[in-house]
Amino acid sequence: MVILGIETSCDETSTAIIEGKDDTVIIKANVVASSLSMHAKTGGIIPEVAARAQLKFILPVFQEAFEKAFGYSPTDITISPPQIDAIAVTYGPGLIGPLLIGIETARTLSFAWQKPLIPVNHMLGHVYANFVVESRKSKVESKNRGVPEFPLIALVASGGHTDLLYMKQHGDIRILGGTRDDAAGEAFDKIGRLLGLPYPAGAVIEQRAKRGNAKRFHFPRPLLSTQTDDFSFSGLKTAVLREVKNIPNLDEQTVNDIAFGTQAAVVDVLVKKTLRAAEKRDVKSIILSGGVSANQMLRETFQTDMQRRNIGAELFFPPKNLCTDNAAMIATASYFNFHPFDWRTLRANPELYYE
Ligand code: KG4
Ligand code: ZN
Repeated sequence: MVILGIETSCDETSTAIIEGKDDTVIIKANVVASSLSMHAKTGGIIPEVAARAQLKFILPVFQEAFEKAFGYSPTDITISPPQIDAIAVTYGPGLIGPLLIGIETARTLSFAWQKPLIPVNHMLGHVYANFVVESRKSKVESKNRGVPEFPLIALVASGGHTDLLYMKQHGDIRILGGTRDDAAGEAFDKIGRLLGLPYPAGAVIEQRAKRGNAKRFHFPRPLLSTQTDDFSFSGLKTAVLREVKNIPNLDEQTVNDIAFGTQAAVVDVLVKKTLRAAEKRDVKSIILSGGVSANQMLRETFQTDMQRRNIGAELFFPPKNLCTDNAAMIATASYFNFHPFDWRTLRANPELYYE
């Protein structure tokens, strides 16, 4: 089955074409245009600016994906229905303006081409980045077929969410915990702003931390000593703010040292809480997903702590380009959860949680 995926929930405009057969999904094209550089200037995303960028990028991205996958770009899409079997689109959570661009494109194509339309939850899309063939290469060791096996624990750590999910099967999801305030990526971004680093700051903090002194700052690990599977990162931001206020001159080395302390605190909380949840349930796979899962220290700490704690589950994380927003993950989620929806009634749901 060949699926066209469309993702426009925030500041990335992406169109992908994937091909699924049994449990194998290959990416034929995955084109991403980002309006991130515009938002870096304002230190955050202005929804109206993001929506206008989506409108500008959607058709060029769409054409490039078709050229890559099939060697042609449909000039008159109503006359030449392409070799695809279905259309998948993100319908939430996200910003309403950007979401609408993707949804209206998908609804129009579904009607014009008479192809099934599958709405996809963006956060579940992140989880499914681990189910494409490309993610098999980033596994630690190969014990089985190479796709994540159920039951599994999935950590979704992005700019807007930090969720811990227990999945018994495709579509059988229990939410174990979520963030009570800031998400992990949001904490990186807000702390980056305090340190004068560009937005989004997660990857920059990772780079600066490499030159940081590990012993200088020890920041709090919120909710780590309690049994809850929830997360909280706003206290970390407040602790960094307090330090920054006490430092008259925020020199480069101090920024590196705070970056180290911040990353260490976030990683410690994410790893320990996820592994604790996995140990309680005896899962076969542990999946990392979302923008924060691109973090190398997070990946390495998961690997070493799983060995140290003798956790037999397999660890999965996507290649870095599939950690952040992209349409291949959306199309893949629809392949494993194929529930078509009438194009007439599909609406964006900015507040969507898991269903
Ligand atoms: O999943 P994503 O692309 O978008 C959302 O759905 O939110 O995640 C973006 C978040 C940002 O907060 C960014 O700072 C963070 O992921 N991020 C990272 C890294 N790369 C991106 N955080 C830590 N280390 C990284 N290497
Ligand atoms: Zn995302």
